[in-house]
Amino acid sequence: MMRTFILIFLFLVKSVFATEIPLHQQQIENVTPNQAAIELSAKKLREHKDVEIGEKLVIPPFHKQAGELETAPQSFCRTCHTPLPHQKALRTRTFNNMHVKFIACETCHVENERLSYRWFDMEKTQFVSGELRIGKNLDNENVRPVNPKIAPFLNDERIFLLKNDEFAKQISATWKNANESEKAVLHAKIHAPLNWQKTEKTHQGTPCQECHNDKKSKLDLPKLGANPEQVQAIQTHIIPRFLEHYKNDDQRITIREMLR
Ligand code: HEC
Ligand code: HEC
Ligand code: HEC
Repeated sequence: MMRTFILIFLFLVKSVFATEIPLHQQQIENVTPNQAAIELSAKKLREHKDVEIGEKLVIPPFHKQAGELETAPQSFCRTCHTPLPHQKALRTRTFNNMHVKFIACETCHVENERLSYRWFDMEKTQFVSGELRIGKNLDNENVRPVNPKIAPFLNDERIFLLKNDEFAKQISATWKNANESEKAVLHAKIHAPLNWQKTEKTHQGTPCQECHNDKKSKLDLPKLGANPEQVQAIQTHIIPRFLEHYKNDDQRITIREMLR
């Protein structure tokens, strides 16, 4: 009798305190990067010595855009990456950076068929009903809040880490004190679950057309609160459609070609 009671008690305690460990953390803890991955990381780190928390690098706001330039204050990725993390791909970087305000890094940087995407407040750490702004007549003064984001979930558990998670804090501390070779291993571990190592050439991250298309969007737009007009506006938006014409980085498209 007493034993059953204790077991039930332990079970209750466990279910109160059992917070799921985010998938990304499990992957970082379990992966043993091979030599090639570590070498690639070391190479990236040599090439990009200047990756620091770079508030100072950010260009001041343009037009009437008031308020903060911070795009993802609670994101684990922001431990190291700048608020506008996309720089290399000249054609798409501005658009990707614009999306960072309302889409979590992992939504575009983790590929897994089983994920579903929901609005999640990164500060309150809870599901919220977020806001799609497309088609709405908003003034630029009406700054988009940065904490609700469209983020990835596996069976309703978040797969991503937040800056304030114990594990994320540990990584941040380890990173600060690590030497170059330790950094290469840690970098390889953190980025192993992100689809960045495909090849040096392939672009990492979800391309525009995977969300902006009228066949099968990566996102369940009605579930994210889009009305039929918004679904259509997102799926058939002219800018991602135009960018689809480019098949490689060096390609130039002339007006003559567009008119063909
Ligand atoms: C502990 C620091 C750290 C954390 C945390 C971190 N990164 Fe990185 N990441 C780096 C560094 C340093 C580089 C190499 C420099 C560069 O290319 O920007 C890099 C490179 C990358 C690249 C590839 C760049 C290339 O040229 O191949 C991607 C994509 C990326 N990170 C995405 C992410 C995402 C998404 C997250 C969060 C899930 C994240 N990173 C978390 C430090 C970090
Ligand atoms: C809307 C999708 C999307 C979101 C959201 C997104 N990324 Fe990316 N990211 C991409 C794509 C696509 C690329 C590949 C760029 C290219 O070559 O076109 C990329 C490339 C990168 C790179 C390579 C370096 C560079 O200069 O392009 C880094 C680093 C990176 N992302 C970090 C992040 C971080 C950190 C976040 C969150 C704060 C984030 N990304 C959010 C789509 C996204
Ligand atoms: C992960 C899915 C996803 C990816 C990838 C993505 N987008 Fe979007 N994009 C959206 C969503 C959702 C909205 C609607 C945001 C809203 O209404 O607040 C949007 C909005 C936009 C808008 C603003 C529309 C307007 O008129 O207000 C433009 C422009 C745009 N995307 C272009 C692009 C381009 C270009 C790329 C690739 C570089 C891209 N998107 C990649 C999901 C995505």
